[in-house]
Amino acid sequence: MLQDHRGLAVSTPSAQALAQFEAALAQFHAYRGDPIATLDAALSLDPDFVLAHLAKAFVVVTATEGRFMPMARAAVARAEALPARANTRERALTAAARLLVDGHWHEACRAFDAVLREWPRDALALQTAHLMDFYRGDALNLRNRVARVLPAWSTALPGYSYLLGMHAFGLEECHQYPDAEAAGRRAVELTPGDGWAVHAVAHVMEMQGRIGEGIAWLESGADDWGRDDNAFAPHNWWHLALLHMDRGDLDAALDLYDRRLDGPQVDMMLVLIDCVALLWRLRLEGVDVGDRFERVADRWQAKAEGERGFYAFNDLHAVMSFAATGRDADSARVLAEMRATAAHGAGANRAMTRDIGLPLAEAILDFAQGRTLQAAARIEAVRDIAHGFGGSHAQRDVLALTLIEAARRGGDLPRARHVLAERLVHRPTAWSARLAARLDASALRAAA
Ligand SMILES: [Fe+2]
Repeated sequence: MLQDHRGLAVSTPSAQALAQFEAALAQFHAYRGDPIATLDAALSLDPDFVLAHLAKAFVVVTATEGRFMPMARAAVARAEALPARANTRERALTAAARLLVDGHWHEACRAFDAVLREWPRDALALQTAHLMDFYRGDALNLRNRVARVLPAWSTALPGYSYLLGMHAFGLEECHQYPDAEAAGRRAVELTPGDGWAVHAVAHVMEMQGRIGEGIAWLESGADDWGRDDNAFAPHNWWHLALLHMDRGDLDAALDLYDRRLDGPQVDMMLVLIDCVALLWRLRLEGVDVGDRFERVADRWQAKAEGERGFYAFNDLHAVMSFAATGRDADSARVLAEMRATAAHGAGANRAMTRDIGLPLAEAILDFAQGRTLQAAARIEAVRDIAHGFGGSHAQRDVLALTLIEAARRGGDLPRARHVLAERLVHRPTAWSARLAARLDASALRAAA
């Protein structure tokens, strides 16, 4: 039986097909190129290549878009139809894949862990589970799942640097900033274009309030991580825009939005979410974003049919775009779908929607429609568990920002100050100072 580059048995008899699989895995690690096309090339050489079918499912499921699920389900069905061909590991991966495409994300991640216990060098299983840990808001496993397999790895194995990048991000989300930075910098030394590792270090700098360093870090590496075919690059540009925003350079943030986020890449859900997240923050800062939100809301409208109710984190961002543009009927449709999901949905998304996504979407609508104190109360009620619907600390900061502004607009300055006090400790940056000054100005106006 053939073995892959990490010494794991693979059931395909075709060395050429296996070479294509390795090429696709390298693309998946680096978020570069088109791993699906490469896997299709592998399958043209061996149509019964179980791992290639599974990898197709893993690549598209981790894009978190409902529109890709038919492809994912078809790929898993093909793998399931090949039990005699699959080896033990591939059968275990097929079981994990079934859970994943059925929406049972938590159970799927446990199934991936069973695979990794036996085969800790299964880089495909690890990265898929790592990304699903992110979408499930499981910070501990973002760190620990990688830690559990690291002893089985070394620099001699292809893909090792990507493990360090994943570990770096997990450490950062667990607030172990020096360890995260060291792992991320080492990963970038080994693979300068590893956008995920670059991103982990940028997160550290943002969380520690090292705004100038963060800007320099991202800008100095952009020739490597920012090349056009890197699907992860827009998210790093988003982080760079946030860092500029922190300094008060709102024009730089808008310029990055126009040059790096708004474009054909918005077709990807993850980029669309970053667009909404940046424009929402800019509006909270009082910036006139022109017709940009209208264009983003148009994109959501075009996607809504296949995406509503698929993933609470996405639904919230859809509602943000519709609320910001006064598209009440569109907001209502998303909220209705979220209520249906919360009542009788399947898989992990049901609880995510019921407990977190839906109350937050209602809060966003309250905020946009002027029920600011109700918005503040609703955000306050769930923000301590909001990690459970995924995203990073940096992404979920939008909840604190919106809560502070909702309380300020509603005239509840003590509540705004209460939340800001926390942010001033955790993020003692110009952005927080600006918010404090805004609250002081509101207090003065109220007293006048
Ligand atoms: Fe990020």
